[in-house]
Amino acid sequence: PATTHVDERGRITVGGVALADVADHFGTPAYVLDESDVRHRCRTYRDTFPEAEIAYAAKALLTRAVARWVTEEGLSLDVCSAGELETALSAGADPRRIILHGNAKTSADLSAARAAGVGRIVVDSHTEITLLAASGRGRQNVLVRVTPDVGVRTHRALTTGVHDQKFGFPISGGHAEDALRRVLGQPRLNLIGLHCHLGSQITDPAPFATAIDRLVGTMAQVRHDHGTILTQLNIGGGHGISYTTGDPALDPSTLAATVEDALDDACARHRFPRPRVTLEPGRAIVGRAGVTVYRVLSVKRIEGARTFVCVDGGMSDNPRVARYGARYGVAVANRHSTAPATVVTVAGRHCEAGDELAVDVSLPADLRPGDVLAVPVTGAYHHSMASSYNAVPRPPVVAVAHGVPRELVRRETVTDLLRRDVGA
Ligand code: LLP
Repeated sequence: PATTHVDERGRITVGGVALADVADHFGTPAYVLDESDVRHRCRTYRDTFPEAEIAYAAKALLTRAVARWVTEEGLSLDVCSAGELETALSAGADPRRIILHGNAKTSADLSAARAAGVGRIVVDSHTEITLLAASGRGRQNVLVRVTPDVGVRTHRALTTGVHDQKFGFPISGGHAEDALRRVLGQPRLNLIGLHCHLGSQITDPAPFATAIDRLVGTMAQVRHDHGTILTQLNIGGGHGISYTTGDPALDPSTLAATVEDALDDACARHRFPRPRVTLEPGRAIVGRAGVTVYRVLSVKRIEGARTFVCVDGGMSDNPRVARYGARYGVAVANRHSTAPATVVTVAGRHCEAGDELAVDVSLPADLRPGDVLAVPVTGAYHHSMASSYNAVPRPPVVAVAHGVPRELVRRETVTDLLRRDVGA
């Protein structure tokens, strides 16, 4: 994060707090979150896109405090379940500024959203149109999620704007057209715009321009066919960040220029009034604000093979390495070492060989049990995707700001886990 330093004792500090102190006070592994970094990214987005709406994608990381920070910074919220919705509401978020997503929303998700008075629901299937048309009082504002068939260069599991995947209604083949006609025919639904999300960890701005062109084209078609002018254009999130030094990232100002140009072009070509744009960054808001601290449990040098530095966390707190082949950096956080660097694999404590946090990273040769390791850029999709695999309780989330640590989420306990086990 922006507030990372090394103190006079060679310890890494974030937000004025030594990570080694977090490890001592809260135990390890622990997720550390730099509040000012999160707030700073929110402000950067608002300043860079002064006319757009920025809706934080809660799936990246949601705790009540995080919901409060982003709403205090003027962001809206994108949620994708009744659980995320309730978390946001319990933090005091304004339901009118909440957007509900999901390709398979349950009736519980939909009724929670209607009961709360959620501002917009993003319609994603014909079943949902039927359910929404028959439920609730008053008219519900909705967007329709479409797939513009725009490919992006990212992990396959993170690609959502192409034809062959489960989200939205494809623009091609008349699918979106049918869905839009049905929504417009429902007296209880008020269609106000379109939504698309191309994927995640995208670093090239060009696909966003193509998507804007196709979505504005669809809006112009809706005006032509139905006489309805849609005023909102939600182009999703997916803005890539750099995980290790030298990794490419999608800079918000680069994206802003692309979005502006694409909108100007498309609106001029279709003589369509400029819609209000919504962006839904998740990772780009919280990713770099997070650092995970671990303690080294053992160092295993295997003759003719790798050296494994084994820590007290792993794929349960960071599933992204095994799942997406993600790469992370690692640093010693509790002391300065003058020992030469050696190339090691940092492995977790879980019972499978694929449980690795970082392969071929350089760490000092004198690393020993008890040392504290820091893995940066773990703010997005870590806490929110954590599991209790091997009955290892999930780590706490500790916020740091102005030299003060504050627990946002406590560590899970084995008692928590056993409480759900009701069948003995
Ligand atoms: N909007 C919608 C509709 C989305 O589905 C997502 C992410 C976002 C916004 C935010 O995307 P972001 O700006 O955070 O990239 N678990 C994966 C990422 C899955 C993203 C799912 N949808 C990972 O760890 O990389």
